[in-house]
Amino acid sequence: MGTLTNKRILLGVSGGIAAYKSADTVRRLREMGAEVRVIMTRGAGSFITPLTLQAVSGHPVYQQLLDTDAEAGMGHIELARWGDAVLVAPASANFLARLAQGRADDLLTAVCLATEAPVAVAPAMNRQMWNNAATKANLATLQKNGVRIFGPGEGSQACGEVGPGRMLEPADLAGRTSELFSTGVLDGLHVVLTAGPTWEAIDPVRGLTNRSTGKMGYALAAAAMEAGASVTLVSGPTSLPDPERVRTLRVESAQEMYDAVLAHVSSAEIFIAVAAVADYRPVTRASEKAKKSAERISLELVRNPDILASVAELKPAPYLVGFAAETEQLEQNARRKLEEKKIDLIAANRVGADLGFESDDNSLLLIGRHGVTTLTAQPKTRLARSLIQYIAERYHAERRDQNSRQAHRR
Ligand code: CTP
Repeated sequence: MGTLTNKRILLGVSGGIAAYKSADTVRRLREMGAEVRVIMTRGAGSFITPLTLQAVSGHPVYQQLLDTDAEAGMGHIELARWGDAVLVAPASANFLARLAQGRADDLLTAVCLATEAPVAVAPAMNRQMWNNAATKANLATLQKNGVRIFGPGEGSQACGEVGPGRMLEPADLAGRTSELFSTGVLDGLHVVLTAGPTWEAIDPVRGLTNRSTGKMGYALAAAAMEAGASVTLVSGPTSLPDPERVRTLRVESAQEMYDAVLAHVSSAEIFIAVAAVADYRPVTRASEKAKKSAERISLELVRNPDILASVAELKPAPYLVGFAAETEQLEQNARRKLEEKKIDLIAANRVGADLGFESDDNSLLLIGRHGVTTLTAQPKTRLARSLIQYIAERYHAERRDQNSRQAHRR
Protein backbone atom coordinates (compact mmCIF):
# COMPACT_ATOMS: atom_id res chain seq x y z
CA MET A 1 0.00 0.00 0.00
CA GLY A 2 1.17 3.57 -0.74
CA THR A 3 1.39 6.38 1.75
CA LEU A 4 -0.13 9.80 2.17
CA THR A 5 2.86 11.36 3.95
CA ASN A 6 2.77 15.17 3.63
CA LYS A 7 -0.49 15.03 1.64
CA ARG A 8 -3.42 17.33 2.37
CA ILE A 9 -6.77 15.68 1.77
CA LEU A 10 -10.13 17.44 1.64
CA LEU A 11 -12.80 14.92 2.64
CA GLY A 12 -16.26 15.88 1.41
CA VAL A 13 -19.17 14.23 3.22
CA SER A 14 -22.60 14.31 1.59
CA GLY A 15 -25.96 13.19 2.95
CA GLY A 16 -26.29 9.41 3.13
CA ILE A 17 -26.37 6.76 5.81
CA ALA A 18 -22.75 5.80 4.98
CA ALA A 19 -21.72 9.20 6.40
CA TYR A 20 -21.52 7.46 9.78
CA LYS A 21 -18.30 5.85 8.45
CA SER A 22 -16.67 9.22 7.70
CA ALA A 23 -14.99 9.44 11.09
CA ASP A 24 -13.25 6.16 10.31
CA THR A 25 -12.28 7.42 6.84
CA VAL A 26 -10.64 10.47 8.44
CA ARG A 27 -8.78 8.19 10.83
CA ARG A 28 -7.53 5.89 8.04
CA LEU A 29 -6.36 8.82 5.93
CA ARG A 30 -4.48 10.27 8.89
CA GLU A 31 -2.94 6.90 9.73
CA MET A 32 -1.45 6.90 6.24
CA GLY A 33 0.16 10.27 6.96
CA ALA A 34 -2.35 12.74 5.52
CA GLU A 35 -3.57 15.98 7.00
CA VAL A 36 -7.35 16.01 6.61
CA ARG A 37 -9.93 18.79 6.52
CA VAL A 38 -13.62 17.97 6.25
CA ILE A 39 -16.34 19.72 4.26
CA MET A 40 -19.93 18.65 5.00
CA THR A 41 -23.01 19.25 2.87
CA ARG A 42 -26.25 20.29 4.57
CA GLY A 43 -27.63 16.73 4.24
CA ALA A 44 -24.56 15.16 5.87
CA GLY A 45 -25.46 16.87 9.15
CA SER A 46 -28.47 14.56 9.51
CA PHE A 47 -26.16 11.53 9.72
CA ILE A 48 -23.03 12.67 11.57
CA THR A 49 -22.20 15.73 13.64
CA PRO A 50 -19.53 18.28 12.68
CA LEU A 51 -18.17 17.93 16.20
CA THR A 52 -17.28 14.26 15.63
CA LEU A 53 -15.45 15.05 12.40
CA GLN A 54 -13.74 18.04 13.97
CA ALA A 55 -12.49 15.86 16.81
CA VAL A 56 -11.09 13.13 14.55
CA SER A 57 -9.59 15.48 11.95
CA GLY A 58 -8.21 17.98 14.46
CA HIS A 59 -9.58 20.91 12.42
CA PRO A 60 -12.85 22.83 12.31
CA VAL A 61 -15.34 21.38 9.83
CA TYR A 62 -16.32 23.56 6.86
CA GLN A 63 -20.01 23.79 5.97
CA GLN A 64 -20.93 27.20 4.61
CA LEU A 65 -20.28 28.85 1.29
CA LEU A 66 -20.10 32.64 1.52
CA ASP A 67 -20.33 32.70 5.31
CA THR A 68 -18.43 35.83 6.37
CA ASP A 69 -16.55 34.14 9.22
CA ALA A 70 -15.66 31.05 7.20
CA GLU A 71 -14.54 33.04 4.18
CA ALA A 72 -12.40 35.21 6.43
CA GLY A 73 -10.73 32.05 7.80
CA MET A 74 -10.27 29.66 4.91
CA GLY A 75 -12.62 30.54 2.05
CA HIS A 76 -13.67 28.18 -0.73
CA ILE A 77 -10.85 29.20 -3.06
CA GLU A 78 -8.22 28.82 -0.35
CA LEU A 79 -9.62 25.42 0.62
CA ALA A 80 -9.56 24.38 -3.03
CA ARG A 81 -5.90 25.41 -3.24
CA TRP A 82 -5.02 23.80 0.11
CA GLY A 83 -6.06 20.27 -0.87
CA ASP A 84 -3.71 17.94 -2.76
CA ALA A 85 -6.80 15.79 -3.47
CA VAL A 86 -10.54 15.89 -2.81
CA LEU A 87 -12.31 12.69 -1.78
CA VAL A 88 -16.10 12.81 -1.50
CA ALA A 89 -17.24 9.84 0.61
CA PRO A 90 -20.06 9.11 0.74
CA ALA A 91 -21.17 10.70 -2.54
CA SER A 92 -24.97 10.57 -2.71
CA ALA A 93 -26.94 10.34 -5.98
CA ASN A 94 -27.95 13.97 -5.50
CA PHE A 95 -24.35 15.09 -4.94
CA LEU A 96 -23.18 13.24 -8.08
CA ALA A 97 -25.95 14.95 -10.09
CA ARG A 98 -24.93 18.39 -8.82
CA LEU A 99 -21.25 17.73 -9.48
CA ALA A 100 -21.99 16.45 -12.99
CA GLN A 101 -23.90 19.66 -13.73
CA GLY A 102 -21.01 21.80 -12.56
CA ARG A 103 -23.09 23.53 -9.91
CA ALA A 104 -21.49 25.61 -7.20
CA ASP A 105 -24.46 26.12 -4.92
CA ASP A 106 -22.81 24.87 -1.75
CA LEU A 107 -19.27 24.80 -0.35
CA LEU A 108 -18.39 21.24 -1.42
CA THR A 109 -19.44 21.60 -5.05
CA ALA A 110 -17.78 25.03 -5.23
CA VAL A 111 -14.50 23.58 -3.94
CA CYS A 112 -14.71 20.66 -6.41
CA LEU A 113 -15.16 23.18 -9.26
CA ALA A 114 -12.39 25.47 -8.06
CA THR A 115 -9.68 22.91 -7.35
CA GLU A 116 -6.88 21.85 -9.67
CA ALA A 117 -6.25 18.77 -7.50
CA PRO A 118 -7.64 15.34 -8.41
CA VAL A 119 -11.24 14.74 -7.30
CA ALA A 120 -12.51 11.27 -6.37
CA VAL A 121 -16.00 10.21 -5.36
CA ALA A 122 -17.15 7.12 -3.46
CA PRO A 123 -20.81 6.61 -4.41
CA ALA A 124 -23.15 5.26 -1.74
CA MET A 125 -26.85 4.75 -2.43
CA ASN A 126 -29.69 2.28 -2.75
CA ARG A 127 -29.11 -0.19 -5.63
CA GLN A 128 -32.06 1.11 -7.66
CA MET A 129 -30.83 4.67 -7.42
CA TRP A 130 -27.39 3.41 -8.52
CA ASN A 131 -28.92 1.57 -11.53
CA ASN A 132 -31.08 4.54 -12.54
CA ALA A 133 -30.34 5.87 -16.03
CA ALA A 134 -29.93 9.43 -14.72
CA THR A 135 -27.27 8.35 -12.18
CA LYS A 136 -25.49 6.36 -14.89
CA ALA A 137 -25.45 9.38 -17.21
CA ASN A 138 -24.09 11.58 -14.39
CA LEU A 139 -21.31 9.10 -13.67
CA ALA A 140 -20.37 8.94 -17.34
CA THR A 141 -20.13 12.76 -17.39
CA LEU A 142 -18.01 12.82 -14.23
CA GLN A 143 -15.67 10.15 -15.61
CA LYS A 144 -15.32 12.11 -18.85
CA ASN A 145 -14.44 15.18 -16.76
CA GLY A 146 -11.63 13.29 -15.03
CA VAL A 147 -13.35 12.58 -11.70
CA ARG A 148 -12.23 9.19 -10.29
CA ILE A 149 -14.97 6.86 -9.13
CA PHE A 150 -14.12 4.61 -6.17
CA GLY A 151 -16.57 1.69 -6.02
CA PRO A 152 -19.29 1.20 -5.08
CA GLY A 153 -19.18 -2.29 -3.61
CA GLU A 154 -21.98 -4.85 -3.53
CA GLY A 155 -23.73 -6.35 -0.55
CA SER A 156 -26.50 -5.80 1.96
CA GLN A 157 -27.66 -2.23 2.19
CA ALA A 158 -29.00 -0.08 5.01
CA CYS A 159 -32.42 -0.10 3.26
CA GLY A 160 -32.56 -3.91 3.60
CA GLU A 161 -31.86 -4.65 -0.06
CA VAL A 162 -28.86 -6.46 -1.51
CA GLY A 163 -26.93 -5.22 -4.55
CA PRO A 164 -24.51 -2.58 -5.83
CA GLY A 165 -24.35 0.82 -4.11
CA ARG A 166 -22.50 0.16 -0.86
CA MET A 167 -19.75 2.63 -0.13
CA LEU A 168 -16.26 1.06 -0.12
CA GLU A 169 -14.77 0.53 3.34
CA PRO A 170 -12.71 3.44 4.80
CA ALA A 171 -9.39 1.53 4.69
CA ASP A 172 -9.95 0.77 1.01
CA LEU A 173 -10.84 4.42 0.31
CA ALA A 174 -7.66 5.63 2.01
CA GLY A 175 -5.58 3.16 -0.03
CA ARG A 176 -7.17 4.28 -3.29
CA THR A 177 -6.66 7.91 -2.36
CA SER A 178 -2.92 7.26 -1.99
CA GLU A 179 -2.91 5.85 -5.54
CA LEU A 180 -4.02 9.27 -6.86
CA PHE A 181 -0.48 10.52 -6.31
CA SER A 182 2.45 9.59 -8.46
CA THR A 183 4.81 7.88 -6.07
CA GLY A 184 7.71 9.93 -4.80
CA VAL A 185 11.22 8.49 -4.79
CA LEU A 186 11.42 8.85 -0.99
CA ASP A 187 7.87 7.70 -0.16
CA GLY A 188 7.56 6.43 3.39
CA LEU A 189 11.16 7.26 4.37
CA HIS A 190 12.36 9.52 7.20
CA VAL A 191 15.13 11.97 6.28
CA VAL A 192 17.03 13.99 8.91
CA LEU A 193 19.11 16.99 7.80
CA THR A 194 21.31 19.59 9.46
CA ALA A 195 21.58 23.08 7.96
CA GLY A 196 22.94 26.55 8.56
CA PRO A 197 25.88 27.58 10.76
CA THR A 198 26.31 26.99 14.47
CA TRP A 199 26.94 29.74 17.00
CA GLU A 200 29.49 29.11 19.75
CA ALA A 201 28.99 31.78 22.37
CA ILE A 202 31.96 33.56 23.93
CA ASP A 203 29.75 35.83 26.03
CA PRO A 204 26.10 36.96 25.72
CA VAL A 205 26.84 39.14 22.66
CA ARG A 206 29.85 37.56 20.95
CA GLY A 207 30.49 34.21 19.41
CA LEU A 208 32.25 32.08 16.82
CA THR A 209 30.40 31.03 13.73
CA ASN A 210 30.80 29.89 10.12
CA ARG A 211 29.55 31.60 7.00
CA SER A 212 26.41 29.77 5.94
CA THR A 213 22.93 31.03 5.07
CA GLY A 214 21.29 27.60 5.33
CA LYS A 215 19.80 27.94 1.83
CA MET A 216 21.17 24.63 0.52
CA GLY A 217 20.02 22.62 3.53
CA TYR A 218 16.56 24.20 3.51
CA ALA A 219 16.21 23.58 -0.25
CA LEU A 220 17.19 19.94 0.27
CA ALA A 221 14.67 19.57 3.11
CA ALA A 222 11.91 20.94 0.85
CA ALA A 223 12.98 18.69 -2.05
CA ALA A 224 13.01 15.61 0.22
CA MET A 225 9.51 16.53 1.42
CA GLU A 226 8.32 16.90 -2.19
CA ALA A 227 9.76 13.45 -2.92
CA GLY A 228 7.48 11.96 -0.25
CA ALA A 229 9.78 11.73 2.78
CA SER A 230 8.88 12.83 6.27
CA VAL A 231 11.60 15.32 7.03
CA THR A 232 13.27 16.56 10.23
CA LEU A 233 15.47 19.62 9.75
CA VAL A 234 17.86 20.55 12.56
CA SER A 235 18.86 24.11 11.83
CA GLY A 236 21.43 26.47 13.29
CA PRO A 237 20.63 30.22 13.36
CA THR A 238 19.39 31.41 9.93
CA SER A 239 17.03 34.10 8.71
CA LEU A 240 15.04 31.62 6.59
CA PRO A 241 11.43 30.66 7.41
CA ASP A 242 10.69 27.01 8.37
CA PRO A 243 10.12 25.04 5.14
CA GLU A 244 6.47 23.95 4.78
CA ARG A 245 5.55 20.48 6.02
CA VAL A 246 9.02 19.92 7.44
CA ARG A 247 9.57 19.39 11.17
CA THR A 248 12.11 22.13 11.88
CA LEU A 249 14.10 22.17 15.13
CA ARG A 250 16.05 25.37 15.82
CA VAL A 251 19.33 25.07 17.70
CA GLU A 252 22.30 27.36 18.33
CA SER A 253 25.51 25.51 19.17
CA ALA A 254 27.15 22.40 17.72
CA GLN A 255 26.44 20.56 20.98
CA GLU A 256 22.71 21.40 20.73
CA MET A 257 22.72 20.32 17.09
CA TYR A 258 24.41 17.06 18.05
CA ASP A 259 21.81 16.40 20.80
CA ALA A 260 18.85 17.15 18.51
CA VAL A 261 20.20 14.95 15.70
CA LEU A 262 20.96 12.02 17.99
CA ALA A 263 17.44 12.29 19.47
CA HIS A 264 15.79 11.91 16.05
CA VAL A 265 18.11 10.03 13.74
CA SER A 266 17.45 6.49 15.01
CA SER A 267 14.20 6.32 13.00
CA ALA A 268 15.79 7.84 9.85
CA GLU A 269 16.78 5.93 6.74
CA ILE A 270 18.81 8.87 5.39
CA PHE A 271 20.92 11.52 7.17
CA ILE A 272 22.21 14.53 5.23
CA ALA A 273 24.70 16.78 7.05
CA VAL A 274 24.67 20.15 5.32
CA ALA A 275 25.39 22.36 8.35
CA ALA A 276 28.63 24.30 8.55
CA VAL A 277 29.34 23.18 12.11
CA ALA A 278 31.95 25.11 14.08
CA ASP A 279 34.78 22.66 14.75
CA TYR A 280 35.69 24.35 18.06
CA ARG A 281 33.93 26.19 20.90
CA PRO A 282 35.31 28.38 23.69
CA VAL A 283 36.20 26.37 26.78
CA THR A 284 34.29 28.83 28.95
CA ARG A 285 31.36 31.10 28.24
CA ALA A 286 31.25 34.38 30.15
CA SER A 287 27.87 35.12 31.69
CA GLU A 288 28.38 38.90 31.28
CA LYS A 289 29.67 40.88 28.32
CA ALA A 290 33.51 40.81 28.46
CA LYS A 291 35.18 44.25 28.75
CA LYS A 292 38.29 45.16 26.77
CA SER A 293 41.48 45.71 28.74
CA ALA A 294 44.71 44.00 27.64
CA GLU A 295 46.27 44.66 24.18
CA ARG A 296 46.44 40.98 23.43
CA ILE A 297 44.29 38.17 24.76
CA SER A 298 43.84 34.54 23.80
CA LEU A 299 40.80 32.36 23.66
CA GLU A 300 41.04 28.71 24.57
CA LEU A 301 38.98 26.43 22.33
CA VAL A 302 37.91 22.82 22.60
CA ARG A 303 36.79 20.45 19.80
CA ASN A 304 33.08 20.06 19.15
CA PRO A 305 31.60 16.61 18.56
CA ASP A 306 31.56 15.55 14.91
CA ILE A 307 27.85 15.00 14.27
CA LEU A 308 28.22 13.18 10.96
CA ALA A 309 30.96 10.86 12.20
CA SER A 310 28.92 10.09 15.35
CA VAL A 311 25.85 9.15 13.29
CA ALA A 312 28.11 6.93 11.14
CA GLU A 313 29.01 4.94 14.29
CA LEU A 314 25.37 4.02 14.97
CA LYS A 315 24.37 0.44 14.30
CA PRO A 316 22.49 0.30 12.04
CA ALA A 317 23.53 3.64 10.56
CA PRO A 318 21.29 5.44 8.07
CA TYR A 319 22.47 6.18 4.52
CA LEU A 320 24.93 9.04 5.13
CA VAL A 321 25.51 12.10 3.01
CA GLY A 322 28.07 14.76 3.94
CA PHE A 323 29.10 18.07 2.44
CA ALA A 324 32.56 19.43 1.88
CA ALA A 325 33.19 23.08 1.11
CA GLU A 326 36.73 23.44 -0.16
CA THR A 327 38.82 26.26 -1.54
CA GLU A 328 41.41 23.90 -3.13
CA GLN A 329 41.97 20.27 -4.15
CA LEU A 330 38.23 19.68 -4.14
CA GLU A 331 38.11 15.99 -5.07
CA GLN A 332 41.10 14.93 -3.00
CA ASN A 333 39.93 16.66 0.19
CA ALA A 334 36.35 15.48 -0.25
CA ARG A 335 37.43 11.87 -0.81
CA ARG A 336 39.50 11.97 2.37
CA LYS A 337 36.43 13.13 4.34
CA LEU A 338 34.30 10.37 2.77
CA GLU A 339 36.76 7.76 4.01
CA GLU A 340 37.61 9.28 7.39
CA LYS A 341 33.99 9.77 8.38
CA LYS A 342 32.91 6.40 6.87
CA ILE A 343 29.99 7.88 4.96
CA ASP A 344 28.22 6.80 1.75
CA LEU A 345 28.29 9.96 -0.32
CA ILE A 346 29.94 13.35 -0.15
CA ALA A 347 28.76 16.44 -2.02
CA ALA A 348 31.71 18.73 -2.57
CA ASN A 349 31.61 22.33 -3.71
CA ARG A 350 34.21 24.91 -4.35
CA VAL A 351 33.78 28.05 -2.24
CA GLY A 352 34.94 31.54 -3.06
CA ALA A 353 34.55 33.56 -6.30
CA ASP A 354 30.75 33.95 -6.64
CA LEU A 355 29.89 30.36 -5.78
CA GLY A 356 29.01 28.65 -2.53
CA PHE A 357 28.05 30.13 0.77
CA GLU A 358 25.97 33.18 0.00
CA SER A 359 25.03 32.69 -3.63
CA ASP A 360 21.83 31.19 -5.02
CA ASP A 361 23.71 29.13 -7.59
CA ASN A 362 26.00 26.27 -6.81
CA SER A 363 27.59 23.26 -8.51
CA LEU A 364 28.39 19.97 -6.80
CA LEU A 365 30.80 17.11 -7.24
CA LEU A 366 29.26 13.91 -5.87
CA ILE A 367 31.73 11.32 -4.70
CA GLY A 368 30.72 7.87 -3.50
CA ARG A 369 32.20 4.40 -3.40
CA HIS A 370 30.64 3.70 -6.81
CA GLY A 371 32.15 6.71 -8.62
CA VAL A 372 32.02 10.44 -9.23
CA THR A 373 29.24 12.57 -10.78
CA THR A 374 28.95 16.32 -11.35
CA LEU A 375 25.77 18.34 -10.91
CA THR A 376 26.36 21.52 -12.88
CA ALA A 377 25.78 25.03 -11.51
CA GLN A 378 22.07 25.84 -11.25
CA PRO A 379 19.76 27.60 -8.81
CA LYS A 380 19.90 25.95 -5.36
CA THR A 381 16.26 24.78 -5.47
CA ARG A 382 16.81 22.92 -8.78
CA LEU A 383 20.16 21.59 -7.64
CA ALA A 384 18.52 20.33 -4.43
CA ARG A 385 15.91 18.38 -6.43
CA SER A 386 18.61 16.76 -8.57
CA LEU A 387 20.65 15.86 -5.52
CA ILE A 388 17.65 14.32 -3.72
CA GLN A 389 16.89 12.30 -6.86
CA TYR A 390 20.49 11.07 -6.91
CA ILE A 391 20.54 10.26 -3.17
CA ALA A 392 17.28 8.30 -3.55
CA GLU A 393 18.70 6.27 -6.48
CA ARG A 394 21.88 5.44 -4.54
CA TYR A 395 19.94 4.64 -1.34
CA HIS A 396 17.61 2.23 -3.17
CA ALA A 397 20.49 0.67 -5.16
CA GLU A 398 22.54 0.02 -2.02
CA ARG A 399 19.57 -1.40 -0.18
CA ARG A 400 18.93 -3.78 -3.11
CA ASP A 401 22.59 -4.86 -2.99
CA GLN A 402 22.43 -5.44 0.78
CA ASN A 403 19.26 -7.50 0.41
CA SER A 404 20.73 -9.64 -2.33
CA ARG A 405 23.95 -10.17 -0.31
CA GLN A 406 21.86 -11.27 2.67
CA ALA A 407 19.78 -13.62 0.50
CA HIS A 408 23.03 -15.06 -0.87
CA ARG A 409 24.36 -15.79 2.62
CA ARG A 410 21.18 -17.63 3.68
N1 CTP B 1 30.13 18.00 10.22
C1 CTP B 1 29.42 17.56 11.31
N2 CTP B 1 29.83 17.87 12.59
C2 CTP B 1 30.94 18.58 12.78
C3 CTP B 1 31.68 19.04 11.69
C4 CTP B 1 31.24 18.73 10.42
O1 CTP B 1 28.39 16.89 11.13
N3 CTP B 1 31.31 18.87 14.01
C5 CTP B 1 29.71 17.63 8.86
C6 CTP B 1 29.27 18.80 8.01
O2 CTP B 1 27.88 19.05 8.14
C7 CTP B 1 29.64 18.34 6.62
C8 CTP B 1 30.91 17.57 6.85
O3 CTP B 1 30.83 17.09 8.18
O4 CTP B 1 28.71 17.45 6.08
C9 CTP B 1 32.10 18.47 6.66
O5 CTP B 1 33.25 17.83 7.10
P1 CTP B 1 34.37 18.58 7.97
O6 CTP B 1 35.49 17.65 8.09
O7 CTP B 1 33.88 19.09 9.22
O8 CTP B 1 34.66 19.80 7.09
P2 CTP B 1 35.57 20.96 7.53
O9 CTP B 1 35.27 21.48 8.90
O10 CTP B 1 35.49 21.92 6.41
O11 CTP B 1 36.89 20.12 7.63
P3 CTP B 1 38.37 20.62 7.48
O12 CTP B 1 38.49 21.69 8.49
O13 CTP B 1 39.15 19.39 7.77
O14 CTP B 1 38.45 21.07 6.06
